[in-house]
Amino acid sequence: MIDEATRYLEGHITAKPTVGVVLGSGLGAFADELTERVDIPYGEIPGWPGSTAIGHAGKLTFGQIEGVPAAVMAGRAHLYEGYTPAQVTYGVRVLGKLGVRSMVFTNAAGGINLTLERGGLFLISDHINLQGCNPLVGPNDESLGTRFPDMSDAYCRAYREIAKSVAAELCIPMAEGVYAAMLGPSYETPAEIRFLRAIGADVVGMSTVLEVIAANHMGIKSLGISCVTNMAAGILQQKIHHEEVLETGALVRDTLVRFLKALLPRLAA
Ligand code: HPA
Repeated sequence: MIDEATRYLEGHITAKPTVGVVLGSGLGAFADELTERVDIPYGEIPGWPGSTAIGHAGKLTFGQIEGVPAAVMAGRAHLYEGYTPAQVTYGVRVLGKLGVRSMVFTNAAGGINLTLERGGLFLISDHINLQGCNPLVGPNDESLGTRFPDMSDAYCRAYREIAKSVAAELCIPMAEGVYAAMLGPSYETPAEIRFLRAIGADVVGMSTVLEVIAANHMGIKSLGISCVTNMAAGILQQKIHHEEVLETGALVRDTLVRFLKALLPRLAA
């Protein structure tokens, strides 16, 4: 199926993308920045899982960003929607087959570290996979990558340095730390947040880690950016609502667009 999807997309684009971006909940605006745009709804691509999450558009956009051929996924598949790890990582697999060598994964996340603030951007330095699965379970497809991929630089150090330089140049404050991935879809309990803080997590979300594992498996260099859409459970005397997550996403969208626009050409160089 992955090869069929790859061939289908090759028939619809003029330039093969070298960088890929995944846009998380409420963060879909960046796709509009591409020039010479070709939009392909997920439903048209063989085997591509549809996006059921609110705040996810569900389309793949090809185009140029400052002269760099790019592919942007607006909307992703999550385990909590009932998708399998293979479906969650399908987009990464297809983009990798198309020739993407660098990926930027964005997501909405809850802030665990008390120094974080709602609405801030956060650079992922590493992750803790608490989703109870791994997309590489099962027979290894050697054409994609090795059986036991190294994950000690899963969020490419060189890319993180570039990201920090770009953020500084644009005067965008950017914290850095560890992303913990939960299965969801319920938000965490306050006790779970205390546990996550104790094991070294700074933010928590329900996506990204399986995609980053698949990307590393294929030798695709990865960068992760969280938008801290809310403080995690039990920190503030208020409940967490999905609307708050989407609202904050909308507030930082322009900042994220500015950041990605400056960042992507630097990753391709
Ligand atoms: N927890 C898990 N996932 C999230 C959160 C959260 O608090 N906010 C946005 N995604």
